[in-house]
Amino acid sequence: MKLAFIFLYLIFSLHVESNVEKCHKNMVAIQNNLTLSRSILKVHCVSKDDDLGDHFLRFQDVAYNFSFHDSLLITRFKCILWKGANLEYHQNFTAYQGGAYLKCGKFNSWEARDDGIYFSRNREPMKLMYIWDKY
Ligand SMILES: *[C@@H]1O[C@H](CO)[C@@H](O)[C@H](O)[C@H]1NC(C)=O
Ligand SMILES: *[C@@H]1O[C@H](CO)[C@@H](O)[C@H](O)[C@H]1NC(C)=O
Ligand SMILES: *[C@@H]1O[C@H](CO)[C@@H](O)[C@H](O)[C@H]1NC(C)=O
Repeated sequence: MKLAFIFLYLIFSLHVESNVEKCHKNMVAIQNNLTLSRSILKVHCVSKDDDLGDHFLRFQDVAYNFSFHDSLLITRFKCILWKGANLEYHQNFTAYQGGAYLKCGKFNSWEARDDGIYFSRNREPMKLMYIWDKY
């Protein structure tokens, strides 16, 4: 009886561990590709639990990225991007939206271009999602 219990426990914990291993973190990457203006890109992302602070990216700097596991409550990261000599252009959008089930290994890539903010999910081609608002 006791042995069977230990055996079941082992099977269970192995199963849980291998599932955790298989669930790769989700990632959001943000890139400055402001080809014409070569403006600084300011980025600020927040979720319910985390404030990731201000980040400043120069033209074609390596992407700013962050990764995370979905939480049981729906995970959502909202970001604001600013560009322009006086950061007078901005846009505010949801950079990652979790669902009712926990997602693994999702890759949301955002790229700031002169005409707007482009998006690619899981390395698909970039699509224009938002244009810049001026203050
Ligand atoms: C940068 O943006 C230009 C369009 O403005 C686009 O043609 C080019 O593919 C982009 N480069 C990268 C590395 O995404
Ligand atoms: C994410 O950031 C790390 C460190 O800043 C960098 O080494 C890595 O290449 C980045 N990955 C992507 C996909 O941008
Ligand atoms: C971002 O957008 C949301 C709703 O779309 C709004 O409530 C919030 O004030 C905006 N934040 C900024 C800094 O623009």
